[in-house]
Amino acid sequence: MKVIKVKSQHEGAQIALTYLKDSLKSGAKTLGLATGSTPLAFYQAIRQSDLDFKGLISINLDEYVGLGAKDSQSYAYFMQEHLFQYKPFGASYLPDGLAQELSSEIVRYDKLIDDYPIDFQILGIGQNGHIGFNEPKTDFNTKTHLVDLSESTIKANSRFFDSIDQVPKQALSMGIASIMKSKRIVLMAYGAQKAQAISSMVEGPVTVDVPASILQTHDDVIVIVDDDAASLLN
Ligand code: GLP
Repeated sequence: MKVIKVKSQHEGAQIALTYLKDSLKSGAKTLGLATGSTPLAFYQAIRQSDLDFKGLISINLDEYVGLGAKDSQSYAYFMQEHLFQYKPFGASYLPDGLAQELSSEIVRYDKLIDDYPIDFQILGIGQNGHIGFNEPKTDFNTKTHLVDLSESTIKANSRFFDSIDQVPKQALSMGIASIMKSKRIVLMAYGAQKAQAISSMVEGPVTVDVPASILQTHDDVIVIVDDDAASLLN
């Protein structure tokens, strides 16, 4: 794991962009994308760049069950709003939160990830160390799966909803095994509320209690953190 400390999200975004450009130069064809507040500065940097994604594929990490692309809280809506309308890809995939048969949707998503191996994966991290929506205790071998969101995740994500009751209780998420297959992973974290998760991920044991800790065993992970998120690192 390479840990890079930055002074601002803007600086973090520029560094992430440099790694993305390097991957594209090496022939990256599929980008794994994340939602949440963390990648916003990165998506802004992409929007302001001259990058063109028309020849590329994007695959997102996750989606809430019960929300569709027209719901403003859905991750499909988020991606359209912050990236896809400005930088369209050849094809963009997210799990379908409105799928009638979640089991077939899971099969479809795993096949997509097999067909389009992810070259460059962007990640944020949950306060409890989750990546995508892979909550603590998720088996490291998991592929796409249905997740019962933890209380702490529901609480953390309620800031995007009018009330905590509106936060969906379930999500579809790419699994940890799929994330680990990505050629390069860039994880960003900003703010003191991420300090414990970052310390456990970087310096703690590799354990299912901290899903992100498995990233210690991947050979191309770049962690971009501000001073607050890095404050508990030795
Ligand atoms: C959600 C997403 C994750 C994201 C996390 C942190 O749970 N499923 O992919 O990393 O939130 O979000 P934020 O960046 O807003 O702190």
